[in-house]
Amino acid sequence: MLRLGVNIDHVATVRQARKGHHPDPVTAAALAIIGGADGITVHLREDRRHIQERDVRLVRQTITARLNLEMAAVDAMTRFALEVKPDEATLVPEKREELTTEGGLDLLAHEKSVTEIAHRLIDAGILVSLFIDPNPRQVEAAHRIKAHAIELQTGSYSEAKSRQERKDRLIELEEAALLAHQMGLKVHAGHGLDYNNVQPVAAIPHVEELNIGHSIVSRAILVGFEQAVSQMRFAMDQGRSGEKWERFI
Ligand code: PXP
Repeated sequence: MLRLGVNIDHVATVRQARKGHHPDPVTAAALAIIGGADGITVHLREDRRHIQERDVRLVRQTITARLNLEMAAVDAMTRFALEVKPDEATLVPEKREELTTEGGLDLLAHEKSVTEIAHRLIDAGILVSLFIDPNPRQVEAAHRIKAHAIELQTGSYSEAKSRQERKDRLIELEEAALLAHQMGLKVHAGHGLDYNNVQPVAAIPHVEELNIGHSIVSRAILVGFEQAVSQMRFAMDQGRSGEKWERFI
């Protein structure tokens, strides 16, 4: 079973362009579920550039599907997560000047602080996932931290400039997924996945969840949210069943 977590941040990006009420990411969350999403992912950034606290609270109250809160591993966000109680918290690195999350969390550099934050969440019954690069040393650190899951950073794969580079990045993802699975970690993946590149990632054994935002919201503007989600669901399911992706890789 491969779950699709739809990241609705960029619905909020369009709303924040005018600081008004529309489009409402809470409505998008409901439509994503109708379109076949298994869960909703939101990133409440410290600068509140898209998702607002109100969005997270309302999604939590109105959606019964899995809620995954992406958050920086800092005290203020942890207190918010403990109050809202998402099903899952994904710890991500955060820099104010970045356009989007760039690269995974460096667990080797921040093992002590990430462990402390992760365990506050785990003790409250929240599943903790760590967004990391597909690197064996990062996977081993996630295991030491006793996280529930890792989310493999697929941005480097998505942005690969050649077929060979894409193949190399895919192999790193496959190897990291296998190692994590052998260590008892659940495996998720995300960042930069779209309708063309998702299939090889969906085919990686042991990957249980993909978190996808920008490509779905971009298509939703043109074809509607339900359609955009169900088309992604279709592409993922094709990838998982091994159909029609060799041409991409
Ligand atoms: N996973 C993580 C940890 C992220 O930070 C993001 C971006 O917020 C995504 C998945 C979704 O990435 P994209 O919007 O490129 O699909």
